[in-house]
Amino acid sequence: MYFEEKHKLIRKLARDFATEVFTKEVLDEIEETHEFPDEICKQLADVGFYGIKIPREWGGAGSDHRGYVSVIEELARVSPVGSVVANGPNSLVGTPLYQFGTDEQKEKYLRPLVRGEKLVVFGLTEPGAGSDAGGTTTIAVQDGDYYILNGRKCFITGAPKADYAIIFAKTDMEKGVKGITSFIMDMKSEGVSLGKPEDKMGIIGWPTSDIIMVDVKVPKENILGEKNEGFINAMKTLDVGRIGVAAQSIGIGQAALDEAVKYAKERKQFGKTLGSFQGISFMLADMATKLEAAKLLTYQAAYMKDTGQDVTKAASMAKYFASEACNEICAKALQIHGGYGYIKEFLIERLYRDARVQTIYEGTSQIQQIVISGQLLK
Ligand code: CAA
Repeated sequence: MYFEEKHKLIRKLARDFATEVFTKEVLDEIEETHEFPDEICKQLADVGFYGIKIPREWGGAGSDHRGYVSVIEELARVSPVGSVVANGPNSLVGTPLYQFGTDEQKEKYLRPLVRGEKLVVFGLTEPGAGSDAGGTTTIAVQDGDYYILNGRKCFITGAPKADYAIIFAKTDMEKGVKGITSFIMDMKSEGVSLGKPEDKMGIIGWPTSDIIMVDVKVPKENILGEKNEGFINAMKTLDVGRIGVAAQSIGIGQAALDEAVKYAKERKQFGKTLGSFQGISFMLADMATKLEAAKLLTYQAAYMKDTGQDVTKAASMAKYFASEACNEICAKALQIHGGYGYIKEFLIERLYRDARVQTIYEGTSQIQQIVISGQLLK
């Protein structure tokens, strides 16, 4: 309903790419070594999946948010971690660089990002400022042509591999969320260090760590967007990012449903297949219905963004519903597998772990409820 021929083509490209590149051997190796192959990063960038909705003039693939959702969904269906690798450059990083960056910043950071030559990450969360993103305590004090940054960011996806980070810091202590500015910080700057890579439950292979800043000098021309508008820009960025997490969630949900249907048709107990028990077939019916609803919310949010409509509520609804549905579908699919679902050899075990973060990152389900109800009551 929401898609045109061009979106169907990009979806097919992503589906073919995912099945060819993310073979079982590759996925098992990523899980075992905790390393995502550089070669696959290069392939993702070469095919255009790092800059799906970035215009061609900046090196992107020139598609739109429906193209973006189609690719992320198809990648997540086969490799959730692969979809996270491709998602960052498109979403939390590509969006603000394109939307708020100057032409010089686009040339210096956006073009190499979408080509896969440089990695930029998004540094908003802090140990004491997670859901309360406006509670940022990282500070940036002007000193001539530079700002001096001090603080600590945490749970930063891709940080150990990053060349640059978009860092949100307080530039005016009196102004609350209206006193936060975003900076593009070179990760090689003196005073930047990393925390240990986090030992995560899922999305294994793409590292997450803290970024620690002690008296880091950032040139004032590296302010991204207007001074003191960093928080608002972060919220606008998350409006797009949340559509991306919804797309990951429906991809993972589809994979889990496919596994459950296959298993229910094959596995026999009491002399008949699991699917012939109503207790199981009704579970499948619920899973499929919720997945379909999650898809419609996600596609609708992408369509609204493409047609210039406000998406704050639609993106949060899509993220909230799709990530919760994804977790429910994965839990039920694992249950249908019985004891085998608890064994690492079975795909559903990994999907269940990869699903878990979807209701947490880019704003928990409870934050989405705050955003949705805030929009209803304003
Ligand atoms: N677009 C434009 N402006 C927005 C906006 C949006 N989507 N959302 C808020 N604003 C504006 C508001 O209008 C307000 O401005 P005015 O006063 O002029 O009206 C200003 O921003 C402050 O808004 P709030 O009063 O609503 O701010 P708040 O402090 O109460 O916070 C919140 C609101 C929704 C809870 C917000 O803090 C939030 O989204 N928190 C979750 C943070 C989050 O998602 N973190 C994820 C980190 S990234 C990640 O997870 C990736 C990874 O790598 C792991």
